[in-house]
Amino acid sequence: MINVKAQAYVFDAYGTLFDVHAAIARYRAEAGAEAERFSEIWRAKQLEYTWTMTLAGDYADFWTLTERALDYTFARVTSVDRKLRQKLLEAYLRLDAFADARAALTALKSQGARLAILSNGSPPMLDAAVAASGLGPLLDAVFSVDAARTYKPRSDVYALVTDGFGIDAREVVFVSSNRWDIMGAAAAGFRPVWINRARLPDEYSEHPPAAVLADLASLPSLAL
Ligand code: LAC
Repeated sequence: MINVKAQAYVFDAYGTLFDVHAAIARYRAEAGAEAERFSEIWRAKQLEYTWTMTLAGDYADFWTLTERALDYTFARVTSVDRKLRQKLLEAYLRLDAFADARAALTALKSQGARLAILSNGSPPMLDAAVAASGLGPLLDAVFSVDAARTYKPRSDVYALVTDGFGIDAREVVFVSSNRWDIMGAAAAGFRPVWINRARLPDEYSEHPPAAVLADLASLPSLAL
């Protein structure tokens, strides 16, 4: 492998920098015993809709799909009161950043790397999440798939980064907790780092990550 200096670190948003289960966590008592299952289904459906729409050659933005997935989840997990709908959607716009995010971004920034997000999130969702987390001043760019009107792991999406920064894919370290996103980034020629927070088994072996970390803490000291 040719050793090219990384010029940019690009992060997936939901699940990598922002905790998607933080919305339900704020209302765990009101949501009841099935809160965790509810949140898992909401997330799984949200992602499934991105893939099914893309396969169908269709597009609706991620906020619309997040709302549809939430409504499906209320229909499926009937023990959770629908009165939480608005509260959960509002909470989704100001999810907690993972505790390790700020320190990792700050360290990488001080090393001179350009930092960005590349996310399925629609621009208003990402603006809200970035503002709420206070990570905005550390980011050089926030790329939304909305500019390509398609979803990860389509190659046009990863090209938003190389086109936007005007750099070669090999100069990009791409960081995601979603193994399927790592697959797409590897196929695009990025150097992918899988943040395996949930200790999940590996998959997509034809497109391996360059490194696997348990969280973001050791990312700044990683030699790639
Ligand atoms: C994102 C989804 C994959 O932020 O979590 O792109």
